[in-house]
Amino acid sequence: MRIVRHISDLGLDGEVGLVPTMGALHAGHVALFRAARAENDTVVASLFVNPAQFDQQSDLAVYPRDETRDAEIAEQEGVDVLFAPGPDEIYPAGFGTWVEVDEAGAEGTARPGHFRGVATVCLKLFNIVRPRRAYFGQKDAQQAIVVRRLVRDLDLDIRIRVIPTVRDADGLALSSRNVRLSPAERERALGLPRALAKAAGSADPIAAARAELNGLTPDYVELLDLDGARILAAAVRVGSTRLIDNVLLEGDLS
Ligand code: PAJ
Repeated sequence: MRIVRHISDLGLDGEVGLVPTMGALHAGHVALFRAARAENDTVVASLFVNPAQFDQQSDLAVYPRDETRDAEIAEQEGVDVLFAPGPDEIYPAGFGTWVEVDEAGAEGTARPGHFRGVATVCLKLFNIVRPRRAYFGQKDAQQAIVVRRLVRDLDLDIRIRVIPTVRDADGLALSSRNVRLSPAERERALGLPRALAKAAGSADPIAAARAELNGLTPDYVELLDLDGARILAAAVRVGSTRLIDNVLLEGDLS
């Protein structure tokens, strides 16, 4: 696996699959690498902690970073190129063009500027890497919706694949933020996937999820539409950690 820091050194061949990440890799990212490996000649993973998408600068400062470990995981999973640029490579002096995102659901309202940062960096990565396909997780369903709309609205010739959420054995969706939960907080956090799973079969899933979340205060519970797939999504705060999760109600992710 090559580790590339500069856009001019990428030199990619064949059909390329891109997996954008911010590192702190876990089995959720690995599922995306495997899906990319299965259907592309060349797999590129990007590792870039994108300052533009952090609505809280304190969150950026504590974002976990371990490039050595991330590179080992990516290499093991058959990634050909790890694109790990510094911030100046992506946002050089004088940078000033942004992708504005309208209406990005409750998650967009809760995190002003977040999806503008995501959409801008994704468009840049798409133009830099020129992938045939790019891979995103269902875990961040609103992000997948925003990226699919970006591709449609700006006529990009890329397929966006959405890969099911990978969970720990206890049901908690894998996230780089889970390490911040104390054992007691983690126990409380399990109320989120449990409530979503229980609500999924109900006639009024939003009300059912709210009722099942007893003890956890949701930022929101809402229904999302990902190209016809109906998704029940929620965000909760457990201590100082904000967690999001969702379940598919009907349709599929393809
Ligand atoms: P990051 O949080 O590193 O996530 C990278 C990709 O992994 C995203 O598409 C995310 O949805 C997916 N992912 C995370 N946890 C997952 C899980 N438990 N199961 C399946 N997939 C999971 O999302 C970002 O980075 C950034 O916003 C990015 C797209 C890289 C733009 O900066």
